[in-house]
Amino acid sequence: MSNVAVIGAGYVGLTTAACLAHIGHNVICADIDEDKIFQLNDGKIPIHEARLSELVTEGLSNQQLKFVVGAQSAITTSDFVFLCLPTPQGEDGRADIGSVLEVVEEICHLVPPETIIINKSTVPVGTNTSIERTIQREDVYVVSNPEFLREGVAVTDFLQPDRIVIGATSSQASARVAELYDPIDAPIIAVDPASAETIKYATNSFLATKVSFVNGLAAVCEAVGADIESVTRGLGTDQRIGSRFLQPGPGWGGSCFPKDMQALVRIATDAGYEFDLLRAVIEANDQQFDRIVSKAELLLGEDLDGKNLTLLGLTFKAHTDDLRNSPALEVAKRLATQGANLTAYDPMVDSQTETLDDIRLVANIEQALDDSEMALILTEWPEFTRANWSKLIDLMDTPCLVDARNVLDRRSMIELGYRYDDLGRI
Ligand code: UDX
Repeated sequence: MSNVAVIGAGYVGLTTAACLAHIGHNVICADIDEDKIFQLNDGKIPIHEARLSELVTEGLSNQQLKFVVGAQSAITTSDFVFLCLPTPQGEDGRADIGSVLEVVEEICHLVPPETIIINKSTVPVGTNTSIERTIQREDVYVVSNPEFLREGVAVTDFLQPDRIVIGATSSQASARVAELYDPIDAPIIAVDPASAETIKYATNSFLATKVSFVNGLAAVCEAVGADIESVTRGLGTDQRIGSRFLQPGPGWGGSCFPKDMQALVRIATDAGYEFDLLRAVIEANDQQFDRIVSKAELLLGEDLDGKNLTLLGLTFKAHTDDLRNSPALEVAKRLATQGANLTAYDPMVDSQTETLDDIRLVANIEQALDDSEMALILTEWPEFTRANWSKLIDLMDTPCLVDARNVLDRRSMIELGYRYDDLGRI
């Protein structure tokens, strides 16, 4: 059991703090947002993450977890300091590490000797070294420990990871950080800091490439009369490829893929290599948004101007409440530009409190489909799969449906009388 400070109580920091407490450490989680800290100490979680609330409550009640305002009050009694700070995409595509460097400046003279500062934020390659230079202390170590937490399943991804990556120049520091994760059964990938930082970008970029590949493959299947679900079954059973992240959709989005893809392209360019493959993947993803709009135009058989369209799903994927860089909003933007009247329903977007440009939000699927001339399923919420489509068709003006997540059964929908389109299925 160790004393750990976690600086930053966002998706990554909160999950890291709660999970480290759950596996037996004493954790103090710090944030600058006083109101957030007050809510957290009261057991209220500001984000939608499965199991997180349960772990925070557990940590608070057995006093292995507490929340404080400001980094300084968390580090004086800690052996390890995790940096879980936002590194948003800057104008030029580079990750903005201002928050990370700010906290490092704030704490570097205050952390006790032999403290290990562990950077979990996604940062450009070389940041670990620049943090070491900022700290200028022989008795403080800096280690890179990137996270691979998917939103919605972050707790599971933390407690049951495929691997734990630790990037360190000091093997002793690397071993001490590995020991923190002892209760977690996963291989430790101990490498140098630059490689650890690169593994993070490589992972997200490869996953985004895989998704864009399967979206392109779905288009080919449509053109040649193949079935994408049969093709991905045959493709994914190849151990070298694997079956996950082969689900066609409206394109990838979220707070990480778009940012990390741009960052890796920029990192490569800065280092003298033009990563054109990734540029092509980013372009392919933008084209996927356009492709969904073309499907809508084709299915309706006429101009979208003035048409009442329904968006089912707004979040960037199911089981999260996150709208950041959502493909659904990219498609909505394009539909609004064509003059469509947009109504949307998403189970995690509160129509009473949220407002979105050019989109009328409603509280349920029935209201969303009332008088609709076409619906587009843009997020794979189970509610849409379970909906009673034989009844819902009576609400619609024209029963057109673009299933951009392939969540419904094609044959059944056509038999019910829908004009139905999806991605790459026969
Ligand atoms: C991602 C990485 O998975 C995670 O390891 C990293 O730490 C943070 O970024 P997340 O942003 O939560 O996690 O989303 P993810 O589940 O990876 O999905 C990213 C996007 O790809 C979503 O828009 C999703 O809908 C899309 N996607 C994913 C597909 O379209 N098809 C798939 O098969 C998988």
